[in-house]
Amino acid sequence: MGAMSTDAYRTAYAQSLEDPETFWRAAAGGIEWLTEPTTVLDDAFAPLYRWFPGATLNTCFNALDRHVRDGRGDQPALIHDSPVTGTKETITYAGLLACVATFAGALASLGVEKGDRVVVYMPMVPEAVVAMLACARLGAIHSVVFGGFAPAELAARIEDAQPKVVVAASCGIEPSRVVEYKPMLDAALDRSSHKPESVIVLQREQARAAVGERDTDWEEIDWDELVADAEPAECVEVAATDPLYVLYTSGTTGRPKGIVRDNGGHAVALRWSMQNVYDIGPGDVWFTASDVGWVVGHSYIVYAPLLTGATTVLYEGKPVGTPDAGAFWRVIAEHGVKAMFTAPTAYRAIKRDDPRGELLREHDISSLETVFLAGERLDPDTYEWASSKLGVPVVDNWWQTETGWPIAANPRGLEPMPIKAGSPTVPMPGYAVSILDETGAELPAGEEGAIAIRLPLPPGTLATLWGDDQRYVDGYLSTYPGFYATGDGGLVDEDGYLFVMGRTDDVLNVAGHRLSTGSIEAALAGHLDVAECAVIGVADELKGQLPRGLVVLKGGVDGSGEAGERIRRELVQRVRDEVGAVAALRQVDIVAALPKTRSGKILRKTMREIADGRTPTVPGTIEDASVLDTLGPVLRPGG
Ligand code: COA
Ligand code: AMP
Repeated sequence: MGAMSTDAYRTAYAQSLEDPETFWRAAAGGIEWLTEPTTVLDDAFAPLYRWFPGATLNTCFNALDRHVRDGRGDQPALIHDSPVTGTKETITYAGLLACVATFAGALASLGVEKGDRVVVYMPMVPEAVVAMLACARLGAIHSVVFGGFAPAELAARIEDAQPKVVVAASCGIEPSRVVEYKPMLDAALDRSSHKPESVIVLQREQARAAVGERDTDWEEIDWDELVADAEPAECVEVAATDPLYVLYTSGTTGRPKGIVRDNGGHAVALRWSMQNVYDIGPGDVWFTASDVGWVVGHSYIVYAPLLTGATTVLYEGKPVGTPDAGAFWRVIAEHGVKAMFTAPTAYRAIKRDDPRGELLREHDISSLETVFLAGERLDPDTYEWASSKLGVPVVDNWWQTETGWPIAANPRGLEPMPIKAGSPTVPMPGYAVSILDETGAELPAGEEGAIAIRLPLPPGTLATLWGDDQRYVDGYLSTYPGFYATGDGGLVDEDGYLFVMGRTDDVLNVAGHRLSTGSIEAALAGHLDVAECAVIGVADELKGQLPRGLVVLKGGVDGSGEAGERIRRELVQRVRDEVGAVAALRQVDIVAALPKTRSGKILRKTMREIADGRTPTVPGTIEDASVLDTLGPVLRPGG
């Protein structure tokens, strides 16, 4: 693994597709197993595949115990840097192991066993990482819900995951306000038909929560009191194919999809990627500015750096405003960060506040070797700005919650490749990327189509959707038989570089956060005055996309003047209360009608094109084309 040579990428990639057994068996050497893998791939249930069947391990052991045993006990494992609370804390591998083993013991005392689900609803505090790893230690399955999601989203996840225990914090801290989590959790549990047996609440001093004061069917327990009496728990042996976690992601409908990650393939792929893609080894300091509630946080704040024996920075702050656009540079300088990872939108925010990069001069960022960006398209302007200001390679990488690690990247550890602005470079090992037309035929270099990946997907990618194999097959594997449909469109150029243009479906990407049109529409549709509605994502300079709502009011409801103003305000508020402020829906327009096909399908793509100032594609099946004329002035930029 990892030797740098001019052909290293090509050799590795070719081997991963022609002889995956040999390639992934070698990569599996980066992980310590309880039962070594004998079989690499099980295709008996194709199109569902399982990696390393028969092998056993414990992911938490590989992330913590192993490093302590091998002499890394005193090395920092996690640095919590929190400008929003004005605190910093360094936790060594030995310290983190002690916390995790104790919390695992606490969970076990509540009856949590291998295979049980635990929902984690927490901000960027070390205890969120502790809770995740404690589940891994017990073989329990964590499901982390992003703290910016409001009750309806949280309830949908609890309903689907059916957790035995929920672990929450009393609050999260945004620069503008303290966000109380407990009332949102209470509201979510009231809505959900599934109730957990216990709710553990970590009290934060910025807003302590009322714990155990309501009459509930479940027990509410204070985190500190629980761990005070707990005995540390040992690692539980699990199959490589057993689930490590379920992470819900947004589709086009309001029902989130529970991406199931296994233990074995995940550990192998993340360990491989950390060294070969991100060029991070044991002892290196690595900083991912994302959130543990997203896949980037799962993979590259928590699991990959710890599986590697690196030091991970857990940053509870923003790229700007905490206190200024030099925040990332301070973190890099103070902790000696070798490489950082975030979303392009964060760099656009920094560029907006400090276009000349003057704050860079206040910090010594000479430790920084590379910046990795993912979560949305890295536009060439942002790429040029960041690379010229920082003077280090700025590396795009493309992937999804489903895949868990990059589909396409510039493998900096394996073989750094020339960067082309606008391209996340080349497919990573195991990903046989194809560009297909609507009929599923492969398109030649340079032509844009749907990006699909020939099955099987490599280790580390989703095993299935939680409790719903059929939904996985229907949603991802049926459009192009033999392929996984990514939902993104793009092309491959003559040099084999991939260019990703964006989603071909109605999934929204707002500031690198993946959101569902369906959830936001459900929140709008719940307003008493709304007859029907649509949400579309329109281009935004800072956040990449912003949602816009269009509503048709019920007959007889006055949507003009002040009455209309009030309805629009209520609609914006409803989305904040139901989906969460992260949806960033600010603009809702009241319109007379929505464009639809004759079968009643709302033409979101056509509206999106009008709103982005492009020529709209109008399907022949449109019911009433004149609706588009009335919408033009509302949707068009400046309209
Ligand atoms: N908990 C509660 N609320 C949250 C939240 C959280 N974890 N995260 C965001 N919010 C709220 C914000 O407070 C804000 O509320 P407001 O409307 O009352 O101001 C709203 O959700 C939108 O937040 P945000 O997306 O952070 O937008 P912003 O305009 O405040 O800041 C950026 C813009 C670019 C600085 C910000 O979007 C950012 O840091 N992006 C990086 C995203 C990222 O790391 N994505 C992960 C994928 S790799
Ligand atoms: P998520 O599952 O939240 O990580 O979102 C995945 C989606 O974000 C992808 O399907 C893409 O649409 C988009 N995305 C992520 N990374 C990139 C990238 N580097 N370039 C273009 N789009 C990206």
